Amino acid sequence: MSSLAQQEFCISISDLAAFLKFTPAEIKQKAEKVLDKKIKSTWLLPEDVRILMLNEGYNYPKKVISIQMLKGGVAKTTSVLNMGLRAAMYGARVLFIDLDQQANLSFALGVEDENLPVWIDIVEKKKKIEECVRFIEPHVDLIPSSLNNSVLDRVLINSNRNWAQSVKAPLEKIQHRYDLILIDTAPALSATNTAVTIASDEIILPVNPDKFAFNGLRKNLSELQDIKKDFELDFSKKILFTKFDGRENTSHELLQQCIESFEGELMQGYIRTSADVKNSVRSGKSLFSGKSPVKSDYDLVTREILGFC
Ligand SMILES: Nc1ncnc2c1ncn2[C@@H]1O[C@H](COP(=O)(O)OP(=O)(O)OP(=O)(O)O)[C@@H](O)[C@H]1O
Ligand SMILES: [Mg+2]
Repeated sequence: MSSLAQQEFCISISDLAAFLKFTPAEIKQKAEKVLDKKIKSTWLLPEDVRILMLNEGYNYPKKVISIQMLKGGVAKTTSVLNMGLRAAMYGARVLFIDLDQQANLSFALGVEDENLPVWIDIVEKKKKIEECVRFIEPHVDLIPSSLNNSVLDRVLINSNRNWAQSVKAPLEKIQHRYDLILIDTAPALSATNTAVTIASDEIILPVNPDKFAFNGLRKNLSELQDIKKDFELDFSKKILFTKFDGRENTSHELLQQCIESFEGELMQGYIRTSADVKNSVRSGKSLFSGKSPVKSDYDLVTREILGFC
């Protein structure tokens, strides 16, 4: 269970009202009618939001999204975390999978136990995938990672079994329980990440404004293209611009370059830089309970992946 308070995982009635273009009073009234109960709080539980959203004609997509970039520190984990938490607040059923042995996503969700089963235990058939799923909060589950996953790549490469299916095949057993499965990966071109790609419907590639960003992105895109061809896959790719700093010329120049070079693949939303991101993880507070500018950035990209635009 996470250390965050329950409302940290819930959307406020005013946020939902702003999105659905009603007043908070109207949303409260609609919720009370469809849920047939009195709403006393200023926020709604994910399952209640789900019922309300379905009633308003919204449907939840079912997809596996991985976040990949061979360059480190580009906000892969931060993006997985905030998009997943926000999607759950919108009523989506979310499974996080941490496949980076640094386990930053697991730590951010309050899971720090080296003895818990992780993906290597599934690959080595010591555990079933169901035994690796940890409940975090309503609508949020996690398959954590730990240093035990650091041998995963070697085990996959040396394995005679069909290593390429080592993420996709186990996932198929539990996929029906979730709308969004979000996989965080290590910054590498590795056998593990190839297996992740094979399991993905969509791949999000974060880039941030530094001069080596495009080198990493181009290398990553060409690697994904090769994997797509070799394994006859059909995933889509999206580029997410992160850590945009409006005061820096480099940010404007690189964003412009991104728009020109990758127009069709660039996500509509981008993420601004803000100290609140670090502080929110450190203080155990969700970004979405405060007034950080990055809150609305992640809100927008979450709606983009949910198709709630
Ligand atoms: N929008 C932002 N504004 C400011 N700092 C940010 C932002 N997003 C992420 N960061 C910070 O940048 C650092 C790297 O972020 P994160 O760990 O998410 O990257 P990563 O791509 O997962 O890294 P790694 O490749 O090591 O796994 C962290 O300290 C994080 O707090
Ligand atoms: Mg990371």
